Order: sequence, then structure tokens, then C-alpha cells
Amino acid sequence: MKILLLGSGGREHALAWKIAQSEKVEKLYVAPGNAGTAGLTCSGCHCTPKCVSENVAMKADDFDAIKTFVLEKQIDMVVVGPEDPLVKGIYDYFKQDEALKTVPVIGPSKQGAVLEGSKDFAKGFMQRHGIPTAAYQTFTGETLAEGKAFLKTLQPPYVLKADGLCAGKGVLIVPTLEEAERELEEMLGGMFGGASSRVVIEEFMSGIECSVFVLTDGKDYVILPEAKDYKRIGEGDTGLNTGGMGSVSPVPFADKAWMQKVEERIIRPTVEGLAAEGIDYKGFIFFGLINVEGNPKVIEYNVRMGDPETESVMLRIKSDLVDLLEGVATQTLGTKQIEFDPRSAVCVMLVSGGYPEAYEKGFPISGIEQVEGSIVFHAGTAQKEGQVVTSGGRVIAVSSYGANKAEALAKSFQEAQKIQFEKKYFRSDIGADL
Ligand code: AMP
Ligand code: GLY
Repeated sequence: MKILLLGSGGREHALAWKIAQSEKVEKLYVAPGNAGTAGLTCSGCHCTPKCVSENVAMKADDFDAIKTFVLEKQIDMVVVGPEDPLVKGIYDYFKQDEALKTVPVIGPSKQGAVLEGSKDFAKGFMQRHGIPTAAYQTFTGETLAEGKAFLKTLQPPYVLKADGLCAGKGVLIVPTLEEAERELEEMLGGMFGGASSRVVIEEFMSGIECSVFVLTDGKDYVILPEAKDYKRIGEGDTGLNTGGMGSVSPVPFADKAWMQKVEERIIRPTVEGLAAEGIDYKGFIFFGLINVEGNPKVIEYNVRMGDPETESVMLRIKSDLVDLLEGVATQTLGTKQIEFDPRSAVCVMLVSGGYPEAYEKGFPISGIEQVEGSIVFHAGTAQKEGQVVTSGGRVIAVSSYGANKAEALAKSFQEAQKIQFEKKYFRSDIGADL
């Protein structure tokens, strides 16, 4: 098979790493990719030496360029990494095009992607299908007064969410009623542009978070290894939210009994709910969960894999991922089993100093070749005049296996020291709370 993977982050490097290991893959292209996604040996290639993955200078949401490339290279499957192309309707674009409609796209239809693209839709969906989540109401500029009245009925802290996509910045958790009222007014007044023209206000839930992933073909699903990610920039979970500073899989509290609750109360009703509402969904579902006194509740849905969870989750999938993706494409997932690697896997993210606020780019990265026994996933990196340089806030994920979490973490921390770039920073307490 020839596969095109869309995206350019650490998640996409981890997906590319796993996809390239499949005996079914003759050739892998990544668009636009990063400095790590090119050069991965395509395991199913019959050339000598075997072909390697290639980056394609094409934006993940440039549908017309993607169409030309898919037809020219006779691509057999498109795997979508980030949410953006999904929310913009790449699945539907393929389905509606005579020349492309037989090429499977792994990812939901535009309608399915609304689960991530609109918090209000996601909350309504959960309510319709009895899926446990925080109590909520949605407000607009016209219902500001009602919004303020609703805030008065809640206990602090107050959770306000912009309805639309805000690159992970659209959720505010504020301690006082006065602040909540002010923020509500500002959000509805355009703090996040059109994305906050509607605001979801919801009850605050207290507990530990856990990310659970499934692959679904719209009828059946397989549950992937779960992971916990570390969102704050500072040690001890302090400071600003980031895209994620590290991840750990498995999550100790997500034991068999808890996962059974997740499957019965959340996963199954979600997949059945999508089908019942006639929503075409063949792809990953990411359940952002919180454990409230032993009971899982949904914080949010994403319609893609998590980043940096993927950088540990891929290590724990023993099965051939491409075989599972084929099951999604042909709606035969019910005949497939997923096997997990029993080891622990973790990822520690090396970031640019200053991130998630302003930071500099273009610093040369050295020492990657000295890393032994860990897997280096590139995130914000680029090739510049033959040198790998920093090109984003989250730069490199150092992922490791271990017989247990402590061993895997020790390995990642040790190897993280070998990679150097100016103003490098990482959290040295990833996994310490589990
Ligand atoms: P979201 O973008 O909806 O995942 O929210 C971002 C983060 O805000 C989550 O990962 C949680 O840490 C936190 N959060 C969101 N909603 C709630 C809630 N209802 N109660 C407590 N924390 C929340
Ligand atoms: N790690 C959280 C996310 O990918 O949204």
C-alpha cells in the first residue's frame, strides 16, 4: 500500500514510525512532515534497499494539492493527523470527488468532526445519548444576562469554553464569580473571534484526567492503549497550558474495572450515537476523560489522536496499525483484534525556552544520534542547510519503553540530556503523580 499521512507534529512522526513498520506499507508520504518523518524504512517495500518515507511540501489542508498528489502517486489510503483538515471537510471532499471517492480517508466526515469543532454540539450529543459529562448551558451575546444568572447557580471555580476551535486556548477556569462574569462578557465580545461567539459554561469537575482512544469504522471499534498527558508548562502542574509536555501509558487508575465503565458508559454510546444520528465516522476518537470518584466523565471529544499521547500510545500497540486502519476503511474492524505491548511507555517533550508564550526558532539541534534505546520523535523541527533546527514550541519527544513507568521515565530523562539546543526546557516530573 501507498499511504499519505497528513500533519507535521510529534503525533505524526509517531504515527509514521508505526505505519512504516507494517509489512503492508510499500511507501509512506508525509505532508508536510518534519525533520523526523522522512527517511523511515517502509517495511513492506520490495526494493533493495527498501524505500523510505518522504516528506511532501504540501499543507495538510490544501485539498486541491492533496488531490493532485494522491492521483499522481496512486495513494491507497490517507491518514489524517490533525483536526484542521477534518473540520474543514477533507473526508467529504474525497467522498464527493469521482476520482477520489474510492481512496479511504482515515478520519470522520465534516459532520463527525463537529464533535471537536463545536463544544456546544459535543455537549448536546452527550446529553442526547446519556453520556456522563459536566452539567452545562450555552450562551450567546443575546443571552449574556442569562449566562451571568447561570454562573450564579454554580460553585467556583467557573469553567467557560469558547464553542469553536481555539488551538487549545479556548477554555478558561476562573476562581471568582466577578471574574467569570467579566470573562464571559469578553469571550462573547470576541476574545477568540468567531470561536467564542457562543460560550459553554459548565460545572467544574475534580479528578485526574486520562485520555482514551478508539479507532472506529462506524459500526465497531477497537480501544487503543490509554495515556495521561501533562498539559502545564511548569513542574507540579503549574503555569500556563501547553500542547502537552509529556505522556505516560498505561495509566494506573485506568484498570480493567474502570475501563469497563468507560466502554459501557462512554465509548459504546458514542459510537452507537454517531451511527444513530447518521454521522459518517471512520477514524480515531479521542475521549478526554476525568475520573470523578471512580466514575469516568467526558471533558471533551477530539476527532484525532492526542499529542503527546500518540508518542507513548504507538509504542504500546503490538498489532499492525495499518491492518487496523484497513479494517476501518473496509468496515471490517469487528474481525480485528488489537494486541498491546505489556511494557510501559512514556514520552518527555523537549520545548523551546519561553514556550507556550513567545520563543525563538532556528536553533541547531545536536546529539540526536547519540540517543540509545529511546525513540526520538520530532515535533517542531525542520531541516535547514543540512542541519536539524528548532521550528516550533514543542521540539522533540523522547519516548521510551520500560518494564514499568519508573524505568521508562528514567530512560527518557537520561536520553533527553543528550539532545542539545539553545534554551531547551523539559519537565522532569512527568509521571511523578501516578
Ligand atoms: P478542553 O479543551 O475542553 O479539554 O479543556 C481543557 C482543559 O481544561 C481540560 O484538559 C481540563 O484540564 C480543564 N477542564 C475543562 N473542562 C473542565 C471541567 N468541566 N472541570 C474541570 N476541568 C475542566
Ligand atoms: N494532548 C491533548 C491533545 O492532543 O489535545
